[in-house]
Amino acid sequence: MENRKTFYITTPIYYPSDKLHIGHTYCTVATDTIARYKRLRGFDVMFLTGTDEHGQKIEEKAKEAGKTPQQFVDDIVTGKGGILDLWKLMNISNDRFIRTTDDYHVESIQKIFRKMYENGDIYKGAYKGKYCTPCESFWTESQLVDGKCPDCGREVHDAEEEAYFFRLSKYAKPVQDLLETGTFLEPASRVNEMINNFIKPGLEDLCVSRTSFSWGIPVDFDPGHVVYVWVDALSNYCTALGLYNDRYHDFDRYWPADAHIVGKEIVRFHSIIWPAMLMSLGLPVPKKVYGHGWLVIDGGKMSKSKGNVVDPYVLAEKFGVDALRFFLLRTFPFGSDGNFTNELLISTINTDLANDLGNLVSRTTAMVEKYFGGVIPEEREPAQADEELIRLIRETPGNYAAQMDAFQLHLGLEEVFKLIQRANKYIDESAPWVLAKDEANRPRLAQVMFNLVEALRVSLICLTPFMPDSCGKAFSQIGAAAEAQTWESAVYGGMPAGTVIHKGETLFPRIDAVKELAELEKIHATAAAPKTPPVLPDVSIDDFARCDMRVCKILACEAVKKSDKLLRFTLDDGSGKERQILSGIRKYYEPEQLVGKKAVAILNLPPRKMMGMESNGMLLSAVAEEDGKETLHLMIVGDDIPVGAQLC
Ligand code: ME8
Repeated sequence: MENRKTFYITTPIYYPSDKLHIGHTYCTVATDTIARYKRLRGFDVMFLTGTDEHGQKIEEKAKEAGKTPQQFVDDIVTGKGGILDLWKLMNISNDRFIRTTDDYHVESIQKIFRKMYENGDIYKGAYKGKYCTPCESFWTESQLVDGKCPDCGREVHDAEEEAYFFRLSKYAKPVQDLLETGTFLEPASRVNEMINNFIKPGLEDLCVSRTSFSWGIPVDFDPGHVVYVWVDALSNYCTALGLYNDRYHDFDRYWPADAHIVGKEIVRFHSIIWPAMLMSLGLPVPKKVYGHGWLVIDGGKMSKSKGNVVDPYVLAEKFGVDALRFFLLRTFPFGSDGNFTNELLISTINTDLANDLGNLVSRTTAMVEKYFGGVIPEEREPAQADEELIRLIRETPGNYAAQMDAFQLHLGLEEVFKLIQRANKYIDESAPWVLAKDEANRPRLAQVMFNLVEALRVSLICLTPFMPDSCGKAFSQIGAAAEAQTWESAVYGGMPAGTVIHKGETLFPRIDAVKELAELEKIHATAAAPKTPPVLPDVSIDDFARCDMRVCKILACEAVKKSDKLLRFTLDDGSGKERQILSGIRKYYEPEQLVGKKAVAILNLPPRKMMGMESNGMLLSAVAEEDGKETLHLMIVGDDIPVGAQLC
């Protein structure tokens, strides 16, 4: 046992900022399938996944939700319907799960940071940018809108925040050499992208600490700084094995990792920053980083704001976990993007699983039961007509393994389906129902049945990493005991004599596409329906009465020069004096549309300067979400309401 070859494989650690969608599920299911395949091949596998729980985004989301950051991430990771539940549902066989808020990880990160500081690769510098004081945010030059804060339109100023930096620039050459080995980063197309887009233009040192937010791992020798993003996140692959902590003790056994499976947008971090950090720590670099493509919808990335995220819970409940796992890996080449549609999902399940595989299982088991009472006799008569199928049974495991070893999961499945389709054709060619009519054909009929069961058994061995539960059920229908399910037994003739076969439940029922598509459409429409925010906590009637809101007539309205957000309004508020209000609604209205209209404004807000002009109050608008987009409607009132009328 101890001498088995090890295989250490990881998924990225996911941000618990929202529920995970089918894209995350794709990555985890693919990694799980590779891990299961390696176990099948006898490797001592360590499969790690987890969650990346720190950072400003989580801190902000928690605040919005009225929770502490820890409560917020706990709910998404361990809560009902959360990340752990999803992986359980999807039958993910991870050996370990790391959360970056785990104590042992925190301890290791502090040591990693200190080591790199002590060896001179982390130094104190200044994070420079454009700072908006009211928003407490740094912006880069390119993020500014008309030179102003993109959030509030106010002036920004050059500012510096003390920060620690990692000397990434020092490692440009060794990282380029590593990338050029040709085996470290796959698919190969991503190597040139990394070298040409990131290394050749010059690697800049990387900011690795921040002081402007606190939800992170404190730098223990400089309180006030928290470790910033990638040092914390990437190191999980080592801390989860016990690097610089006492929680686990398998670092020497499993490191360097055999494969980090990651989405294409984080290849840069894994293939440049991560090896540089490891070099700085004097540790070996991983053997491989594999960058897979995205599942996209209508050619674009899934995102919550577009309202097009696909919920794996819904699909797994409707079509079954294994069918969903299978679809994800059968349909899309692993290195490229794949366009997800419900139509494709249903047609793949119907064609490959209900028709090809499902039929082979049900026809074979039904015929062995019918003709031989479930046990194939030993007296069999081979014929030349069997040769092609037998050759394919013999060749398939090797061809499949070559693809699986290269993480070409869809091509591995293609090899298996060639065998399944050939076996179905073999049924039609050998016409067992005709052979069964004559007692003299019994040995020949027995041979046909035997070949079919073997084709099926070898196919199921190869399919087990993809669909563990369904293959388990199919194995019991063909009576294959544990020793007939091993990789070593995936050879023609590996099934022991006397095996008892029972036709069982239909493994993959055919899906009524029209009905299911209509149902999915309905579910999607409900999920994408605009969500109104919850009602805010009570205010007293006195507080409300202090807000002076009145009907004002818009006398003039013009766009503010050099701002693509602001409109300047001149209003008649009934006092006899003109009032100026600036409002950031330019993208919703043409100024001339509004002149002469009556709108509602709150007048007794303190004056505020924007783009050098004073705004005295605020026009009220109704903000909503329509078709996944935020929309805004100025509160225009009927012409019959007099100017100056007060809202109460
Ligand atoms: O990037 N199709 O976390 P994350 C395929 N915490 N894969 C997708 C996808 C889609 N539509 N959407 C997301 C992070 N993913 C960091 C990782 S690792 C040390 C830190 C994949 O939750 C994405 O490509 O934003 C990435 O590999 C993974 O989900 C996690 O994304």
